Amino acid sequence: MQKRILVIGATGQIGIELVLALREKYGNENVIAADIRPDSTGLLGEGPFVTLSVLDKEALEETIRTQGVTEVYQLAALLSATSEKNPVLAWDLNMNGLLNILELAKHDGPLRKVFWPSSIAAFGPTTPRHQTPQTTVMEPSSVYGISKLAGERWCEYYHLKHGTDVRSIRYPGLIGFRSEPGGGTTDYAVDIFYHALKSGSYTCFLSAETELPMMMMEDAIRATISIMDAPAEHIRIRSSYNLAGVSFTPASLARAIQCHISHFAISYQPDFRQALADSWPCSIDDSAARTDWGWSPAYGLERLVEAMLEGVRAKISG
Ligand code: SER
Repeated sequence: MQKRILVIGATGQIGIELVLALREKYGNENVIAADIRPDSTGLLGEGPFVTLSVLDKEALEETIRTQGVTEVYQLAALLSATSEKNPVLAWDLNMNGLLNILELAKHDGPLRKVFWPSSIAAFGPTTPRHQTPQTTVMEPSSVYGISKLAGERWCEYYHLKHGTDVRSIRYPGLIGFRSEPGGGTTDYAVDIFYHALKSGSYTCFLSAETELPMMMMEDAIRATISIMDAPAEHIRIRSSYNLAGVSFTPASLARAIQCHISHFAISYQPDFRQALADSWPCSIDDSAARTDWGWSPAYGLERLVEAMLEGVRAKISG
């Protein structure tokens, strides 16, 4: 059957990059980009776009039915820092958006497969922080993390109860230059490149030794497409898979940038996001993803820094 893909949250940090990659693979007309805000960046290029809220279940149902949508990537969400400022909206969007999709996937319509992102934020302060296992204590202390853990439970529940083919990844902090991050705790690792190239200095809102799991966007998009392409019987985990790229601290990232921009200076002024970062893992054991659907990251710290400096430099000069 011809795939018809709907990406909700298409103008967000992951959405833009994922729509571009899916259009490249499946053809522009087979990937419908959807968001509540129009694509003001123009980055999404050619291909169908619908203005849609994931909380509007009727409009969602109509889009899926009339467009014959077979797969949904539900990316619309508030990230960790924004969620702390608006907990009720975060819960509503992050949870009911997912539930709307899972309900629609349960019925006899065209929708057959769902992707939903979880996060390292689903872990909490009582989780082992180094090489965090796939299955472990999960007591998230952030609103965002609570919504991600609950969402994982819903995904597994719909799979067990209704046979829903739902697949999910616990993304680390994502680093890319085509799209802008917004409202996340790991966003410093993107902002730092713009500041390094524009002014040669950066004040980081996390402390120097805050180690977090991170990943280059190219790796994250490849992981997303590969978990969705894998045969259903390989996807043994229906809550969400641990996924690792590279772990680093603000200080080690700054040192890697200084190898290219020797005068780059970093200072530290931790704010409320420090507490979020301190409750998350430092590094992740992703052996289940490696075994079940062949995951392997391509970007280490040096390659990531080179790619970001090149991409951001071209963007700000362009
Ligand atoms: N990158 C996200 C954030 O910082 C975590 O999933 O909110």
